[in-house]
Amino acid sequence: MSIGKVMRQVLGKNFHYVGELYRKIFVDLNKVLSGIEFSSDKNDSFKLLDIGGGDGAFINLVMDKYPNAKVDMIDIADNIGSFLKPAHLSRVRIFNKTSIATYAKDSSPNSLDCILIMDVLHHVGRNHRHVFFEELKMLVNSNRSLKIIVKDVEPGYFITWLSYLSDVYVSGDKQVWLISRAKVIEYFEYYFPGIQHYETNVFYQNKPNYSIVFHF
Ligand SMILES: C[S@@+](CC[C@H](N)C(=O)[O-])C[C@H]1O[C@@H](n2cnc3c(N)ncnc32)[C@H](O)[C@@H]1O
Repeated sequence: MSIGKVMRQVLGKNFHYVGELYRKIFVDLNKVLSGIEFSSDKNDSFKLLDIGGGDGAFINLVMDKYPNAKVDMIDIADNIGSFLKPAHLSRVRIFNKTSIATYAKDSSPNSLDCILIMDVLHHVGRNHRHVFFEELKMLVNSNRSLKIIVKDVEPGYFITWLSYLSDVYVSGDKQVWLISRAKVIEYFEYYFPGIQHYETNVFYQNKPNYSIVFHF
């Protein structure tokens, strides 16, 4: 069992205090939030799909900022959304042990306005990335008005190296394979010909974290 899993078991409900503090070493979630515009209208009732939502720490901030937003959170892991504030639960649907392909088949992807893929791509092993993007195509090709927001960490920085060690030795994920901004853009342009993108200011506000928005 990884150090991270042992800590979760030992600390139980209090794990989120330690988890959130620990994450601050790597990313300032408030800076990420201020760099990403989910909607220009804070009262907008947009629907977001959070792929690989994990504990849901960032989604708390999104829901605080956009009080009418609704979120579907999917993850291949079996225990997700544990950091979500009780006040937000009525606006979040949680799909654990759910792949993108399953969600695309069983839910109604056409009702989505945006997709968030935050700190997930570097957890998708190099040999599995084609499956990830093929599945993403199932969602995106039927709904070309979607905005897809990717947040990840740029290789080549001390903090990135530290986060890599943390993922491998604390979280126990041996598949971690870092992904640069250039590589993310390459994947999206390959799998979604004609897709456009712009980079948010996240990289300049909170290096080595970056965020890129893709749209048609
Ligand atoms: C580092 S966590 C990020 C959690 C959350 N997005 C955040 O930034 O707080 C990465 C998550 O991605 C999930 N994940 C990895 N590969 C996935 C896939 N192919 N589909 C859905 N979730 C995946 C993992 O189970 C894990 O919960």
